[in-house]
Amino acid sequence: MADGTRPGGTKKLFIKTYGCQMNVYDSERMAEAMGGQGYELTERAEEADMVLLNTCHIREKASEKLFSDLGRLRPLKQAKPGMKIGVAGCVAQAEGPEILTRMPMVDLVVGPQSYHRLPQMVAATATGAKPVETDFPAEDKFDHLPLRGPSGTPARRAPAAFLTVQEGCDKFCAFCVVPYTRGAEVSRPAARVLEEARALVGRGVREITLLGQNVNAYHGASEAGDVSLAQLIRSLAAIEGLERIRYTTSHPNDMGDDLIAVHGDEPKLMPYLHLPVQAGSDRVLKAMARKHTAEQYLRLVERIRAARPDLHLSGDFIVGFPGETEAEFQETLDLIREVRYGTAFSFRYSARPGTPAAEKPAVAREIAEDRLQRLQALLGEQQQALQRAMIGREVGVLFEKPGREPGQWVGKSDYLHAVHVRGPLAVGDLARVRITASGLNSLAGELV
Ligand code: SAH
Ligand code: SF4
Ligand code: F3S
Repeated sequence: MADGTRPGGTKKLFIKTYGCQMNVYDSERMAEAMGGQGYELTERAEEADMVLLNTCHIREKASEKLFSDLGRLRPLKQAKPGMKIGVAGCVAQAEGPEILTRMPMVDLVVGPQSYHRLPQMVAATATGAKPVETDFPAEDKFDHLPLRGPSGTPARRAPAAFLTVQEGCDKFCAFCVVPYTRGAEVSRPAARVLEEARALVGRGVREITLLGQNVNAYHGASEAGDVSLAQLIRSLAAIEGLERIRYTTSHPNDMGDDLIAVHGDEPKLMPYLHLPVQAGSDRVLKAMARKHTAEQYLRLVERIRAARPDLHLSGDFIVGFPGETEAEFQETLDLIREVRYGTAFSFRYSARPGTPAAEKPAVAREIAEDRLQRLQALLGEQQQALQRAMIGREVGVLFEKPGREPGQWVGKSDYLHAVHVRGPLAVGDLARVRITASGLNSLAGELV
């Protein structure tokens, strides 16, 4: 069967990615797996032989995007009946074969742990089959997805790359679908991570962001026993040519002393940390099954800042969790005022089928919406204040692409700000920049 997809002329693959960075990474790996079958990436769905929608199930709005996009693809598929449409990602995992029932135009459904089976599944569609793979197979998909070769996609030649080191989650926060869509928490062996990191650096990558839904719970196997995220970062830091390391996202309870120490003494670990707290009320945190209090989070932030005083913190917040009162919401605002975030992501609670919180009576939509606006106003003020405080400071910037204006380049600061600079620069340059101005979501600066 697999031979049915052997290259016989190049076919075009269009991938649309929704959701988190892990999906971005997975899409790249799927593109590579399909590259081995003669498929080349295209940015235009109209010319695609195969369309892959890599979906997200985290909130209702995210999962609905799949169905609106399928609606938009319908005329394309009618005009080109040979076009195959695959649904991957967390909606594929959650809804499985129901997607085929609801949308007969879909040809295959593949969950996040089965991507290594994609080439065989695509081959099967040639005979009219509609394969669905949503098991959590015993084998590790990463062992079966090809390591990146030099014929990589353009994204591969970017100076900053994602590298998934841990998947799944055992925390079961009451609102969250991730433990169901990605399965149990699994860490990749340290040697495999290091091998992949070296391959990336060999291709010109200078910054790696380690990914996992609970990345700081990483405990990968090695010959010398289990390796923590802190140890993994120290091993990665020894790779010559790798200049910057980041990791995301972390649960407060897994922020060990050894990891905090790396923030203090490893210069390649960037001074930015995404540390979601979700809420500032202990009653709400308990109802969310977050397993930590607001005070524990605040003391943790203190300890991390003691190790790295200039660290920029980022967070995630949910407002309008079932039962949240105005006074409890005020506690979230208090926590935000105390922490001072560089950036943050905030969401109105969305009831997700199958999660414990979905059984509880919801906060009225208008109330939750109003809280979200007040929360975002506060977070926006903090972001602006911290950005303005960067003016006059000197930071490292890794340049990723030319800007919109001639002679302008865009890169990321050590603190993950987008920075616009003019100068004789190239993709992959890492330069010292003095910040001169702060815009809405980016900074401007000049080469030092
Ligand atoms: N593993 C990450 C979170 C992944 S989901 C972590 O624990 O930090 C990303 C964010 O989406 C969460 O932090 C949360 O703020 C938000 N989120 C998750 N489920 C949600 C829901 N049902 N409604 C609204 N926001 C949600
Ligand atoms: Fe979801 Fe909680 Fe796991 Fe994060 S820690 S992925 S919010 S269950
Ligand atoms: Fe979405 Fe799945 Fe990521 S639900 S946030 S794509 S793990």
